[in-house]
Amino acid sequence: MKKLMAANWKMYKTWDEAKSTAEELVKLTAAKLPDDREVLVFPSFTALRGVAQALAWQAGFSAGGQDYYIEEEGAFTGEISPKMLKDAGAAYGLTGHSERRHILGEDDEYIGQKTAYGLASGLKVVLCVGEKIEDRKNDMVEDVLERQIRMGLKNVPTDIAPDRLSIAYEPVWAIGTGEVAGPEEISAAHGFVRKILFSIFGDNANEMRILYGGSVKPDNCAEIIALDNVDGVLVGGASLEGESFSKIVLA
Ligand code: PGA
Repeated sequence: MKKLMAANWKMYKTWDEAKSTAEELVKLTAAKLPDDREVLVFPSFTALRGVAQALAWQAGFSAGGQDYYIEEEGAFTGEISPKMLKDAGAAYGLTGHSERRHILGEDDEYIGQKTAYGLASGLKVVLCVGEKIEDRKNDMVEDVLERQIRMGLKNVPTDIAPDRLSIAYEPVWAIGTGEVAGPEEISAAHGFVRKILFSIFGDNANEMRILYGGSVKPDNCAEIIALDNVDGVLVGGASLEGESFSKIVLA
């Protein structure tokens, strides 16, 4: 199973900036990319085609859309469909990111619909889950993760090809804060996520990637991806510069 090293560029970068960061990333990593690594970039919609083109002909590199709606087309002002993402060069879609849950107000039900719809539309999907700090203080981490995963995957066929579905464990309190979860916290959460996936997908769960996200940096990435059940990372702030993300990709 290849480790998935994913960059989430959020609402940063114009088309030019995104394209030149993608080109720099390819220059710094393509020749050295180990066989067991895959690189994925989630740029903004307006930069998607340019980034996808910059990455396209490199083996092991792909682009994804940060969000999408649950219809192919129609009167849904402001929305974008998986079909349009694929047309712009995306292979992946992202669902359940904490900023969409907690700033844009998406609930588990809708995230579940989105995850299933993206997969049915031919995207690979990374579903993000993670507890808030008060959940952790109240000893609710497993309850929150189990609810988010079961509802997030409710309508996903149980025989889905395992390389098409990944989970990103991103504790909300570690996103953009510089406060990375400790190795025990990451191992415990990832082991628990694997257990839930196993209860849904059986042995295929062993082939599904579980990424860690939350203040991953060049100097902590190697330690994190060496942990059991960590099959990649989802990186925000430290993925915005080609040089910094290339160190993460090759860590
Ligand atoms: P961060 O963001 O790396 O800046 O903490 C991670 C994410 O939001 O996916």
